[in-house]
Amino acid sequence: MQNARTILSPVNADGIREKEAARSFVHVLADTSDRLAGVCTILEDRFAVAGERLDAEAKLSQVPAAIVIRADLRDVDNIAALKRRAGKLAKAKKRIFLLEHSSHVGISQAYALGATLVLPSTVGRTKLLAALTDPADGSSAASGDTLQPDNAVEAAATAVASMFTAVTLGQPLDIDGTKEAGRQIADRITERGLSEWLSTVRRHHEGTYQHCLLVTGLAIDFGLSLGVGRADLERLYSAAMFHDIGKAQIPLAILDKPGRLDAEERAQIETHPAAGHAFLKGHDKISPEILDAVRHHHEYLDGSGYPDALCAESIGDIVRILTISDIFAALIERRHYKPTMPRAEAYNVLCGMNGKLEKALVHSFKQVALTR
Ligand SMILES: [Fe+2]
Ligand SMILES: [Fe+2]
Repeated sequence: MQNARTILSPVNADGIREKEAARSFVHVLADTSDRLAGVCTILEDRFAVAGERLDAEAKLSQVPAAIVIRADLRDVDNIAALKRRAGKLAKAKKRIFLLEHSSHVGISQAYALGATLVLPSTVGRTKLLAALTDPADGSSAASGDTLQPDNAVEAAATAVASMFTAVTLGQPLDIDGTKEAGRQIADRITERGLSEWLSTVRRHHEGTYQHCLLVTGLAIDFGLSLGVGRADLERLYSAAMFHDIGKAQIPLAILDKPGRLDAEERAQIETHPAAGHAFLKGHDKISPEILDAVRHHHEYLDGSGYPDALCAESIGDIVRILTISDIFAALIERRHYKPTMPRAEAYNVLCGMNGKLEKALVHSFKQVALTR
């Protein structure tokens, strides 16, 4: 009994083995003493913790396995303090930001500062510990046991984040940068396959950012499996990167609502394809095919979709591929309030959408959904 307790005790759950002590070191940064103490208290019985206020002189020398940052990112001094520590932050495999005020701009800001995961500061002990101890997390298997950040994923997340920030703040959009991020995802998937991309993205990102990265990866792999040419592949990943940009105008309280949406909330969500289209319309680097895909990715062949209730003959190939990738991504994405749906189950949902999706394309999607 005594032995069992020793093994199962949470404090000793990892055995706190000597060798693992260095990997279990977590650094906490916060903008106030209260917040610092709050986070440290949660972590102290599981990790070796060092805390530091953002306004203090940066003194960290040891490289931690993870950094947890709790700060109000609306405060420019906090941003400046984090930028000063950027070099050190980049060395930690996990950089978890706990946001005081969840908003598109706040989340974008956190990713721009190098976050690998953004959670609300109200997330609670269990979920924070789970995020820190997730055994699959921390580094991509394919890149080995390295302390380097996962650049392709981070670059893509930053591109999505800055796109949302630009819309929210009414700033110009970096079209070339966003397309370049899409191209890098295409290279990565060509090199390492779809499954590695899906699992890496799901480990590191939440909400709309995770969704955009998943849809882009799926659309690319679907395009590759169909043997589309380079120009079409570029259209596909660009359309996927931009497809939900209209969600930048929808409050996170609705986008990230765990339960069912009421009629009013649903109506608000359904404004995003037209809003995205309206936003991109003025940019000369956005082609008509991309505009069409952004506006129509929620249309169905039987005319039951939105915003224009288009029927089959008016729905182009890029849109059809994007719609299938989009639905599948929404089903398999990881949210902090729900587990991911297994890929086989998600594919069955697509197969059950009779009349809405092109049957032959859904059939072709099978290998993407299940095996690639
Ligand atoms: Fe959408
Ligand atoms: Fe979407």
